[in-house]
Amino acid sequence: MVPRCLTVAGSDSGGGAGIQADLKTFTALGVYGMSAITSITVQNTEGVFGVFDLPPEVVYNQIKVVAQDIGVDSAKTGMLSNTGIVLAVARAVRDLGIQNLVVDPVFRAKSGDLLLREESVEVLVRELFPLALIVTPNIPEAEVLCGDRIRNLRDAENCAKKILEMGPRAVVIKGGHMEGDKVIDLFYEGGLEVHYFVDDRVETKNTHGTGCTFSAAICALIAMGMDLKRAVRKAKDFVKRAIETNPGIGKGHGPLNHMWRIEPCVREFISSEPST
Ligand SMILES: Nc1ncnc2c1ncn2[C@@H]1O[C@H](COP(=O)(O)OP(=O)(O)OP(=O)(O)O)[C@@H](O)[C@H]1O
Ligand SMILES: [Mg+2]
Repeated sequence: MVPRCLTVAGSDSGGGAGIQADLKTFTALGVYGMSAITSITVQNTEGVFGVFDLPPEVVYNQIKVVAQDIGVDSAKTGMLSNTGIVLAVARAVRDLGIQNLVVDPVFRAKSGDLLLREESVEVLVRELFPLALIVTPNIPEAEVLCGDRIRNLRDAENCAKKILEMGPRAVVIKGGHMEGDKVIDLFYEGGLEVHYFVDDRVETKNTHGTGCTFSAAICALIAMGMDLKRAVRKAKDFVKRAIETNPGIGKGHGPLNHMWRIEPCVREFISSEPST
């Protein structure tokens, strides 16, 4: 059976991040994608111009009906916006026994706009982190979670260890916000070893939705039964190529090209003769 993946996240009308990026990533990686929308953002590549949160019960029920009918091999959370939604999602994950949960603790959009209320962070940590297979903060989010600045890899390592104590089975601190020409993601699942996944930085302003795409790719790959460390490394490869081939859309931080892997097949289909 095709692996079934659920994203619980906000809608980005610009199509580059959130639910839209997640479903594109799921499709590009060959899994069946489902969505529980938490919030509708009025958004383009330049910023977030409005946020309309859905009632927590509606979020809970979206998760419930797809889990009961279709089944969920893995799930990810993105923008959860407020405490009521965080609590509803944690309840749904517990009630429906959802395993293989990727928690992307989204606090702000790339434009700086707030996507989770400050008072909800503590609830997210308490309710959702213990249910997570992996949490995927970026550097500013990791700093909020540990309450310390991250100035170097040693700081990041200490922070990852603190986050692991909050309950998830593993943590990856993403390096997109780092200075310098390398992008280093730090992966830690306990024990003595900390893993660093290093890439050359792609120089572009078009990185809208990198975090959503990364956590959705991890979610898709673990639904197939891939080992977590390998899934994280492969997710980074997937995002890097999607940044490199970005279509240059919009006036601000443009979206990625989620379809880079299957473009040749699509082109071949379009240029082939239609059935007679
Ligand atoms: N310029 C870049 N070149 C190569 N890889 C990048 C670049 N920027 C981010 N990445 C990779 O993309 C993934 C997401 O990291 P990032 O730190 O950008 O997440 P994020 O801040 O949560 O993104 P978002 O703003 O979309 O929420 C990581 O694997 C990171 O290494
Ligand atoms: Mg992010």
